[in-house]
Amino acid sequence: MEPTTVPETGKLTQSTRRSFIRGIATAGASTAAAVTLERAGIDLFATATADAAPGTMPFSQFSAIAPSSADAFQVPEGYRADVLIRFGDEFASDGGETLAWGYNNDFLAFFPLGGKPDEGLLFANHEYPSPFFQHGYKEQDLDPGKHTKSAADVQAEQDAVGNSILHVKRGIDGVWTIVSPSPYNRRIYGDRPALEFTGPRAGDAGIGDFANGSLGNCSGGITPWGTALSCEENFDGYGLALGTSDSQYGWVENGGEPEDAEYHPGPPYRATGTPYAKYGWVCEHDPYDPSDSGRKHTALGRFRHENTAFRQAPGKPFVLYMGDDKANEGIYRFVSARAFQPGRPANNRRILEAGALFIARFEPEGRRQFAEAGDTEPINATEGTGTWVPVLESELDDTATKLRARFAAGSEYDTHFATNRPEDVEVGPDGSVFVALTNNSTVNDSHGSVRRIAEDGSDPTALSFTWEDYAAGGPTGRAGVGEGGFSSPDNLVFDSQKNVWVVTDISSSSLNRPGPYEYHANNAVFMVPTAGANAGVAFRFGNAPVEAEITGPYFTPDESTLFLNVQHPGETTGTSADSVFGDMQTYSSWWPEGNRTADQNPSAPLPSLVAVTRILEDAGEPGSPVIPPPAAPGGGEPDRTRPRVELLSRGRQSLGRLRTRGLAFRVRVSEPVTLTVTLRGQLTTGRSLRRLGKASARGKVRRIARARVRVERAGEVTVRLRPSTSMRLLLRRERVLPALLQVKAVDAARNTSTRTKQLKFK
Ligand code: FEO
Ligand code: CA
Ligand code: CA
Ligand code: CA
Repeated sequence: MEPTTVPETGKLTQSTRRSFIRGIATAGASTAAAVTLERAGIDLFATATADAAPGTMPFSQFSAIAPSSADAFQVPEGYRADVLIRFGDEFASDGGETLAWGYNNDFLAFFPLGGKPDEGLLFANHEYPSPFFQHGYKEQDLDPGKHTKSAADVQAEQDAVGNSILHVKRGIDGVWTIVSPSPYNRRIYGDRPALEFTGPRAGDAGIGDFANGSLGNCSGGITPWGTALSCEENFDGYGLALGTSDSQYGWVENGGEPEDAEYHPGPPYRATGTPYAKYGWVCEHDPYDPSDSGRKHTALGRFRHENTAFRQAPGKPFVLYMGDDKANEGIYRFVSARAFQPGRPANNRRILEAGALFIARFEPEGRRQFAEAGDTEPINATEGTGTWVPVLESELDDTATKLRARFAAGSEYDTHFATNRPEDVEVGPDGSVFVALTNNSTVNDSHGSVRRIAEDGSDPTALSFTWEDYAAGGPTGRAGVGEGGFSSPDNLVFDSQKNVWVVTDISSSSLNRPGPYEYHANNAVFMVPTAGANAGVAFRFGNAPVEAEITGPYFTPDESTLFLNVQHPGETTGTSADSVFGDMQTYSSWWPEGNRTADQNPSAPLPSLVAVTRILEDAGEPGSPVIPPPAAPGGGEPDRTRPRVELLSRGRQSLGRLRTRGLAFRVRVSEPVTLTVTLRGQLTTGRSLRRLGKASARGKVRRIARARVRVERAGEVTVRLRPSTSMRLLLRRERVLPALLQVKAVDAARNTSTRTKQLKFK
């Protein structure tokens, strides 16, 4: 089964290049008003619509939301967010093996099964464990006298990292569930199975033929031949002894098994002994093959791999772009020796085994520099040219270290190869490459940018390119709700309408503190149209809970669902001297079971995978755009009472008004609710009316109009129903026989009441 390849839409010309600063288009930025509901004692969610011309998809029209510091995951009204699986939740293979979802889910990819958009395999990475939340471990300086771990503690950490392959299916109500047991369900762990090395350095000293498991898996990518690429990023903290700097893991001294010495990361972090190079590679996994145990490709180099993005241009070698996620490190490109051949799996699975690796050399320089931390105007060039410089085979085992040694003279490396910490790399619709440069305190870059690289002649194998900083982080000063700007971009994803989705990763220790990140509040998800009137404007779509980062954004092929990972909620708890294992009051987040800032349901925070979907028309239960859904007012016992709802308006209404301005209805509610008001009716032409006779006319029942509003307090509200343009046109020709008005009220605890009334039109 082969996912579709990234479309190639021809050459990037000078006229299509645009420069955006702080997410604002150079010209023509506008915000379409989208107040579709009457403001009448109701607080509307609708404020501004992120209007993503030229087309729309299920996620491109929404009311941008304000920054939040709440311990809640939030998306705009009209969407529902559901936790699909949390750390520790069990699922099973069909052999009856019990599996558990790992910690810190990061990368996500959806692999469809049987070509269906509503059933598939989610491939996920689990980047790093949590010694504190898993078993109460804290580093020595935070917990003097207690810096040991048992072998069981280390095993629990090894079981919490690696990858998961999870079989999922969407029901008719639009809600995703886990298929378990399933032959596809499986795990890769930090110490098993054995992954085979491929490529020019396989078998070399320190590398060998196999590695035990996989760790540090941050982001990743997919291939057009249907495999997942998982990137080992921060691999160097696992082998160091506890109590030494940079290690919370200490797997070597506590594991007790001889092969655990292989977690020693090798130079430059090697303490003593063999310079192992078992981790820090790109790993390829076949989610469709339950017997696959993964391979590590030495041809792609060894550095802090963030992710991969491929480009497959007709008649050209297969090309993979990658970033080294460390301050002052580089951007890489791999050009395969073997061509991709659709339908030839034996050929394709060898594509990443041989080829040429290059690092980008930027002119005039690679890093975007600022005079002071927090500044938003750079003091050096924001565009230029560049070349691809070959990496030597001898440099593949410790690539950045060895390149830095080769180019050290005259700070050549820091001037031309170093960048502001490349996170996600994505290939855009036109074949140009977008790189999230997240931030870099060594050059005072607090907010980061998205850099666009265009290969000369749009040729993926060109040896030279042009670049520009396409969008930049930092406060925009825009007044629109949710338009205040992003900071510290991390993962990127394009949708079918050329919107780029950006998730942010401001570090947990900087969030919601006085300083350059205060305006941003929690980490968030933004949509940035790259075309149309709002090109370059970042619209806030989602908010993370306390101290979490949202990662892995991935749309299903039909774009009906956006899967997101919520990583490390409550992260600073594990590095605080005051936290006490098991005492929820000392935890900074209670998400997703509870909400710390709302003092709702104290519970341990759990990294979780979330599915976001549009609320389906006529769905039974609308879900909530907020996780966890808000508790009953005043706290205490959960709200189990249904809201009372009364329809106060008359049953006789004007068809003329329905055809033009729409109809207004008065509704009284007993508590805060989301109201969904739907008008359905039989449309019948005058001719068929005469033929059939009024009483027996049975035209087709159609939905004429619907409105959804959130009512903030008990009392009376007015809801206006206005048919769509096409329905208004239809109503000019049609009459409406007795119609049914349905008013559905759902409170924060999802208790539901429905009222219906027959309407007659005059
Ligand atoms: Fe694990 Fe590159 O963030
Ligand atoms: Ca991360
Ligand atoms: Ca990342
Ligand atoms: Ca990051």
